[in-house]
Amino acid sequence: RTVFVNGSFVPEDQATVSIFDRGFLMGDAIYEVTTVIDGKLIEFPAHMARLARSLAEIEMPFEVDEDALLAMHHELIARNDLDQGMIYMQVSRGPADRDFVYPADPKPTRIAFTQSIPWLSMPFIETGFKVVSCPDKRWGRRDIKTVQILWTCMSKVDAQRKGADDVWFVEDGLVTEGSSCNAFIIKNNRIITRALSHDILHGVTRAVILKFAKEQGLEVEVRGFSVEEAQQADEAFVTASPLFATGVVELDGVTIGSGKPGPMTMQLREAHIRESL
Ligand code: PDD
Repeated sequence: RTVFVNGSFVPEDQATVSIFDRGFLMGDAIYEVTTVIDGKLIEFPAHMARLARSLAEIEMPFEVDEDALLAMHHELIARNDLDQGMIYMQVSRGPADRDFVYPADPKPTRIAFTQSIPWLSMPFIETGFKVVSCPDKRWGRRDIKTVQILWTCMSKVDAQRKGADDVWFVEDGLVTEGSSCNAFIIKNNRIITRALSHDILHGVTRAVILKFAKEQGLEVEVRGFSVEEAQQADEAFVTASPLFATGVVELDGVTIGSGKPGPMTMQLREAHIRESL
Protein backbone atom coordinates (compact mmCIF):
# COMPACT_ATOMS: atom_id res chain seq x y z
CA ARG A 1 0.00 0.00 0.00
CA THR A 2 0.89 3.61 -0.43
CA VAL A 3 0.23 5.57 2.75
CA PHE A 4 0.32 9.23 3.69
CA VAL A 5 2.62 10.60 6.37
CA ASN A 6 3.24 14.30 7.05
CA GLY A 7 2.68 15.48 3.51
CA SER A 8 4.32 12.58 1.65
CA PHE A 9 2.92 9.51 -0.10
CA VAL A 10 5.23 6.57 0.57
CA PRO A 11 5.17 2.76 0.53
CA GLU A 12 3.84 1.59 3.91
CA ASP A 13 7.16 0.03 4.94
CA GLN A 14 8.88 3.39 4.50
CA ALA A 15 6.45 5.45 6.59
CA THR A 16 7.92 6.40 9.96
CA VAL A 17 6.73 8.26 13.04
CA SER A 18 8.88 9.20 16.05
CA ILE A 19 8.82 6.98 19.16
CA PHE A 20 8.30 10.27 21.07
CA ASP A 21 5.03 10.94 19.27
CA ARG A 22 2.35 11.84 21.81
CA GLY A 23 -0.18 9.82 19.89
CA PHE A 24 1.95 6.72 20.53
CA LEU A 25 2.93 7.56 24.13
CA MET A 26 -0.26 9.13 25.46
CA GLY A 27 -3.14 8.53 23.08
CA ASP A 28 -2.95 12.27 22.37
CA ALA A 29 -4.43 11.95 18.88
CA ILE A 30 -7.69 12.24 16.99
CA TYR A 31 -8.86 10.05 14.13
CA GLU A 32 -11.56 9.75 11.49
CA VAL A 33 -12.65 6.84 9.32
CA THR A 34 -14.26 7.69 5.99
CA THR A 35 -15.92 4.95 3.98
CA VAL A 36 -15.17 4.45 0.30
CA ILE A 37 -17.73 2.84 -2.03
CA ASP A 38 -17.07 2.64 -5.79
CA GLY A 39 -14.00 4.79 -5.19
CA LYS A 40 -16.19 7.55 -3.73
CA LEU A 41 -15.90 9.05 -0.25
CA ILE A 42 -19.10 8.92 1.82
CA GLU A 43 -20.04 12.02 3.88
CA PHE A 44 -16.51 13.43 3.70
CA PRO A 45 -17.37 17.02 4.79
CA ALA A 46 -19.15 15.75 7.92
CA HIS A 47 -16.10 13.68 8.88
CA MET A 48 -13.83 16.68 8.44
CA ALA A 49 -16.18 18.84 10.52
CA ARG A 50 -16.04 16.28 13.32
CA LEU A 51 -12.24 16.07 13.00
CA ALA A 52 -12.05 19.85 13.46
CA ARG A 53 -14.39 19.67 16.47
CA SER A 54 -12.42 16.86 18.15
CA LEU A 55 -9.14 18.72 17.59
CA ALA A 56 -10.61 21.92 19.02
CA GLU A 57 -11.87 20.04 22.09
CA ILE A 58 -8.32 18.87 22.89
CA GLU A 59 -6.85 22.27 21.94
CA MET A 60 -4.72 20.87 19.15
CA PRO A 61 -3.56 23.70 16.89
CA PHE A 62 -4.20 22.06 13.53
CA GLU A 63 -6.14 23.67 10.75
CA VAL A 64 -8.48 21.27 8.98
CA ASP A 65 -8.08 22.39 5.37
CA GLU A 66 -10.94 20.42 3.84
CA ASP A 67 -9.84 20.93 0.21
CA ALA A 68 -6.28 19.80 0.89
CA LEU A 69 -7.46 16.80 2.92
CA LEU A 70 -9.95 15.87 0.20
CA ALA A 71 -7.15 15.96 -2.38
CA MET A 72 -5.03 13.75 -0.08
CA HIS A 73 -7.90 11.25 0.31
CA HIS A 74 -8.44 11.16 -3.47
CA GLU A 75 -4.74 10.61 -4.02
CA LEU A 76 -4.74 7.65 -1.62
CA ILE A 77 -7.79 6.15 -3.37
CA ALA A 78 -6.10 6.53 -6.77
CA ARG A 79 -2.66 5.26 -5.73
CA ASN A 80 -4.16 2.22 -4.01
CA ASP A 81 -6.81 1.61 -6.65
CA LEU A 82 -9.36 1.48 -3.83
CA ASP A 83 -12.87 0.50 -4.79
CA GLN A 84 -14.56 -0.42 -1.48
CA GLY A 85 -13.07 0.10 1.94
CA MET A 86 -12.05 2.96 4.12
CA ILE A 87 -9.52 5.67 4.72
CA TYR A 88 -8.22 6.05 8.26
CA MET A 89 -6.77 9.44 9.07
CA GLN A 90 -5.08 10.43 12.32
CA VAL A 91 -3.67 13.68 13.67
CA SER A 92 -1.56 13.46 16.82
CA ARG A 93 0.07 16.23 18.80
CA GLY A 94 3.39 15.04 17.41
CA PRO A 95 6.77 14.29 19.00
CA ALA A 96 7.82 16.07 22.20
CA ASP A 97 9.77 15.35 25.40
CA ARG A 98 7.49 13.27 27.58
CA ASP A 99 5.40 15.62 29.69
CA PHE A 100 1.70 15.49 30.53
CA VAL A 101 1.37 19.17 29.70
CA TYR A 102 0.96 19.97 26.01
CA PRO A 103 4.12 21.23 24.28
CA ALA A 104 4.04 24.98 23.63
CA ASP A 105 4.76 24.59 19.93
CA PRO A 106 3.42 21.21 18.79
CA LYS A 107 4.19 19.79 15.34
CA PRO A 108 1.16 17.57 14.67
CA THR A 109 1.79 14.24 12.97
CA ARG A 110 -0.64 13.45 10.16
CA ILE A 111 -1.03 9.94 8.83
CA ALA A 112 -3.58 8.25 6.61
CA PHE A 113 -3.95 4.84 5.01
CA THR A 114 -6.48 2.77 3.11
CA GLN A 115 -8.00 -0.61 3.88
CA SER A 116 -9.85 -2.55 1.21
CA ILE A 117 -13.04 -4.13 2.63
CA PRO A 118 -16.12 -5.27 0.65
CA TRP A 119 -18.60 -3.40 2.88
CA LEU A 120 -21.64 -3.94 0.67
CA SER A 121 -21.27 -7.71 0.49
CA MET A 122 -20.44 -8.58 4.09
CA PRO A 123 -22.45 -11.56 5.46
CA PHE A 124 -23.67 -9.53 8.48
CA ILE A 125 -25.88 -7.40 6.23
CA GLU A 126 -28.27 -10.34 5.77
CA THR A 127 -27.81 -12.04 9.14
CA GLY A 128 -27.57 -8.97 11.39
CA PHE A 129 -25.37 -8.67 14.45
CA LYS A 130 -25.61 -10.56 17.71
CA VAL A 131 -24.56 -8.24 20.50
CA VAL A 132 -23.87 -8.55 24.20
CA SER A 133 -24.09 -5.73 26.71
CA CYS A 134 -21.19 -4.68 28.87
CA PRO A 135 -20.53 -1.82 31.34
CA ASP A 136 -19.33 1.36 29.64
CA LYS A 137 -15.98 1.89 31.32
CA ARG A 138 -14.61 4.21 28.65
CA TRP A 139 -13.64 7.74 29.62
CA GLY A 140 -16.24 10.51 29.91
CA ARG A 141 -15.57 12.38 26.66
CA ARG A 142 -16.69 9.85 24.07
CA ASP A 143 -17.77 12.71 21.82
CA ILE A 144 -14.07 13.30 21.10
CA LYS A 145 -12.79 10.76 18.59
CA THR A 146 -9.47 9.97 20.25
CA VAL A 147 -7.31 6.90 19.63
CA GLN A 148 -7.71 6.04 23.34
CA ILE A 149 -9.98 3.05 22.70
CA LEU A 150 -8.56 0.15 24.70
CA TRP A 151 -11.75 -0.55 26.70
CA THR A 152 -13.51 -0.89 23.35
CA CYS A 153 -10.93 -3.43 22.19
CA MET A 154 -11.15 -5.38 25.48
CA SER A 155 -14.95 -5.45 25.36
CA LYS A 156 -15.12 -6.49 21.73
CA VAL A 157 -12.67 -9.36 22.29
CA ASP A 158 -14.78 -10.46 25.25
CA ALA A 159 -17.98 -10.22 23.18
CA GLN A 160 -16.49 -12.35 20.42
CA ARG A 161 -15.35 -14.95 22.96
CA LYS A 162 -19.00 -15.13 24.03
CA GLY A 163 -19.99 -15.87 20.43
CA ALA A 164 -21.33 -12.35 19.72
CA ASP A 165 -20.37 -10.00 16.93
CA ASP A 166 -20.28 -6.80 18.92
CA VAL A 167 -20.92 -5.10 22.24
CA TRP A 168 -23.46 -2.50 23.38
CA PHE A 169 -22.13 -0.41 26.25
CA VAL A 170 -24.46 0.31 29.18
CA GLU A 171 -24.19 3.13 31.71
CA ASP A 172 -26.69 3.93 34.49
CA GLY A 173 -29.06 1.32 33.09
CA LEU A 174 -29.15 2.75 29.56
CA VAL A 175 -27.36 1.75 26.37
CA THR A 176 -24.81 4.38 25.34
CA GLU A 177 -23.62 3.01 21.97
CA GLY A 178 -21.94 0.05 20.28
CA SER A 179 -18.18 -0.57 20.15
CA SER A 180 -17.78 1.70 17.14
CA CYS A 181 -21.35 2.46 16.15
CA ASN A 182 -24.46 4.23 17.44
CA ALA A 183 -27.37 2.14 18.74
CA PHE A 184 -31.05 2.39 17.75
CA ILE A 185 -34.28 0.52 18.41
CA ILE A 186 -37.65 0.70 16.65
CA LYS A 187 -40.91 0.14 18.53
CA ASN A 188 -44.38 0.77 17.08
CA ASN A 189 -42.80 2.56 14.08
CA ARG A 190 -40.89 4.96 16.34
CA ILE A 191 -37.12 5.15 16.09
CA ILE A 192 -35.44 5.57 19.45
CA THR A 193 -31.81 6.59 19.96
CA ARG A 194 -29.84 8.30 22.69
CA ALA A 195 -29.37 12.07 22.65
CA LEU A 196 -26.02 13.64 21.76
CA SER A 197 -23.88 14.47 24.77
CA HIS A 198 -20.37 13.72 26.04
CA ASP A 199 -21.53 10.11 26.51
CA ILE A 200 -21.44 9.04 22.85
CA LEU A 201 -19.71 9.79 19.60
CA HIS A 202 -21.77 12.15 17.47
CA GLY A 203 -22.06 9.72 14.59
CA VAL A 204 -22.08 11.09 11.06
CA THR A 205 -24.28 8.16 10.01
CA ARG A 206 -26.58 8.64 13.01
CA ALA A 207 -27.35 12.17 11.80
CA VAL A 208 -27.96 11.05 8.21
CA ILE A 209 -30.25 8.19 9.26
CA LEU A 210 -32.28 10.47 11.54
CA LYS A 211 -32.66 12.93 8.66
CA PHE A 212 -33.91 10.13 6.34
CA ALA A 213 -36.25 8.84 9.02
CA LYS A 214 -37.83 12.28 9.44
CA GLU A 215 -38.08 12.75 5.66
CA GLN A 216 -39.93 9.46 5.43
CA GLY A 217 -42.38 10.65 8.08
CA LEU A 218 -41.14 8.27 10.78
CA GLU A 219 -41.33 9.38 14.39
CA VAL A 220 -38.00 9.80 16.15
CA GLU A 221 -37.61 9.77 19.92
CA VAL A 222 -34.21 10.97 21.05
CA ARG A 223 -33.75 9.33 24.44
CA GLY A 224 -31.88 6.50 26.09
CA PHE A 225 -33.23 2.95 26.27
CA SER A 226 -32.39 -0.05 28.43
CA VAL A 227 -31.26 -3.53 27.41
CA GLU A 228 -34.69 -4.86 28.40
CA GLU A 229 -36.50 -2.32 26.23
CA ALA A 230 -34.23 -3.19 23.31
CA GLN A 231 -34.88 -6.91 23.77
CA GLN A 232 -38.61 -6.22 23.38
CA ALA A 233 -38.24 -3.86 20.42
CA ASP A 234 -39.61 -4.63 16.95
CA GLU A 235 -36.21 -3.95 15.37
CA ALA A 236 -32.78 -2.82 16.42
CA PHE A 237 -29.85 -1.55 14.41
CA VAL A 238 -26.52 0.21 14.59
CA THR A 239 -25.03 2.93 12.42
CA ALA A 240 -21.43 3.68 11.50
CA SER A 241 -19.87 4.93 8.32
CA PRO A 242 -18.79 1.50 7.08
CA LEU A 243 -21.93 -0.22 8.35
CA PHE A 244 -24.55 2.29 7.15
CA ALA A 245 -27.56 0.92 9.11
CA THR A 246 -26.97 -2.73 10.04
CA GLY A 247 -29.55 -4.86 11.83
CA VAL A 248 -29.08 -6.16 15.36
CA VAL A 249 -30.94 -9.44 15.85
CA GLU A 250 -29.93 -10.60 19.30
CA LEU A 251 -29.05 -8.88 22.57
CA ASP A 252 -27.70 -10.88 25.51
CA GLY A 253 -29.08 -14.09 24.02
CA VAL A 254 -32.61 -12.71 23.46
CA THR A 255 -33.86 -12.56 19.87
CA ILE A 256 -35.06 -9.14 18.73
CA GLY A 257 -38.10 -9.03 16.42
CA SER A 258 -38.06 -11.79 13.80
CA GLY A 259 -34.39 -12.63 14.36
CA LYS A 260 -33.52 -11.07 10.99
CA PRO A 261 -32.67 -7.44 10.18
CA GLY A 262 -36.03 -5.65 10.25
CA PRO A 263 -37.85 -4.11 7.26
CA MET A 264 -37.55 -0.51 8.46
CA THR A 265 -33.84 -1.00 9.15
CA MET A 266 -33.31 -2.34 5.63
CA GLN A 267 -35.37 0.46 4.12
CA LEU A 268 -33.27 3.12 5.91
CA ARG A 269 -30.09 1.30 4.94
CA GLU A 270 -31.03 1.13 1.27
CA ALA A 271 -32.19 4.75 1.14
CA HIS A 272 -28.89 5.87 2.64
CA ILE A 273 -26.76 3.79 0.27
CA ARG A 274 -28.80 4.93 -2.75
CA GLU A 275 -28.38 8.56 -1.72
CA SER A 276 -24.64 8.15 -1.07
CA LEU A 277 -23.70 6.72 -4.47
N1 PDD B 1 -16.15 4.40 14.45
N2 PDD B 1 -19.55 5.44 18.04
C1 PDD B 1 -18.24 5.14 18.12
C2 PDD B 1 -17.65 4.90 19.46
C3 PDD B 1 -17.46 5.05 16.96
O1 PDD B 1 -16.16 4.75 17.05
C4 PDD B 1 -18.08 5.26 15.68
C5 PDD B 1 -17.30 5.19 14.40
C6 PDD B 1 -19.45 5.57 15.64
C7 PDD B 1 -20.17 5.84 14.36
O2 PDD B 1 -19.77 7.07 13.80
P1 PDD B 1 -19.90 7.38 12.25
O3 PDD B 1 -21.32 7.16 11.86
O4 PDD B 1 -19.54 8.84 12.17
O5 PDD B 1 -18.96 6.46 11.54
C8 PDD B 1 -20.15 5.65 16.85
C9 PDD B 1 -15.31 4.20 13.28
C10 PDD B 1 -16.03 3.64 12.12
C11 PDD B 1 -14.11 3.40 13.71
O6 PDD B 1 -13.65 3.64 14.81
O7 PDD B 1 -13.64 2.56 12.94
